[in-house]
Amino acid sequence: MQIIKTTDHQQMSRYAANIISAQVIMKPTCVLGLATGATPMGIYKQLIEWYRKNDVDFSLVTSVNLDEYCDLSGDHEQSYRYYMNENFFRHINIAPENTFLPAGDAADYEKECSDYDALIQRLGGLDLQLLGIGHDGHIGFNEPADEYVPGTHRVRLLDETIEANSRFFSGVDKVPKYALTMGIRDIMQAKKIVLVASGEEKAEILHKALTGPVSPRIPASVLQLHPNVILVADEMAMQHFA
Ligand code: GLP
Repeated sequence: MQIIKTTDHQQMSRYAANIISAQVIMKPTCVLGLATGATPMGIYKQLIEWYRKNDVDFSLVTSVNLDEYCDLSGDHEQSYRYYMNENFFRHINIAPENTFLPAGDAADYEKECSDYDALIQRLGGLDLQLLGIGHDGHIGFNEPADEYVPGTHRVRLLDETIEANSRFFSGVDKVPKYALTMGIRDIMQAKKIVLVASGEEKAEILHKALTGPVSPRIPASVLQLHPNVILVADEMAMQHFA
């Protein structure tokens, strides 16, 4: 694992954006696995800025997001589709038809999940997967569990995650209890993984996940087994690393 320690969230965002833009420049037809949450916001802002300066072109890129809440339509302000459209896609020249997220409101979610895995395979896999880390060590919405789930699946969110994500909703009771997420195989098959973390509240889980035993109880720990992970994290998030 390559570790890039930055001074703060802003520098973390710029460095991670640099890696993503290098990926797009080197392979204009690449498949980007994208993530939501507060951590990657600055990365998307930076990429938009470089797009506007003509430094990066997304016209041939395909994006496949990690996850989506169940029971929210794509135009709901807290859906991840809405987040991606508003914070990234509508500001760049990616073709809307080449942007994919699991349809969280699909009636037949099992079919939706297997179609999503088939889509990832058809695209030839993910060239680069951007990942944040949840407070409980989740990646995408792969929550701590007794075993890893390989493919895209429906997951019951843990109370801790519902609580953590309630900051984006008008109340904790408004947070969906279920989500569709790529599985661990989908993520681990990415050719390159860029893991980003920022702030003191991620320090403990980041250290545990990357230096402790590999266990589905801390889903992100599986990243220790991936041959090409780049961790871009700020000093606060890395305070427990020697
Ligand atoms: C959500 C997302 C994850 C993300 C996590 C951390 O639960 N499903 O993909 O990594 O939140 O988000 P944040 O960056 O806001 O701490």
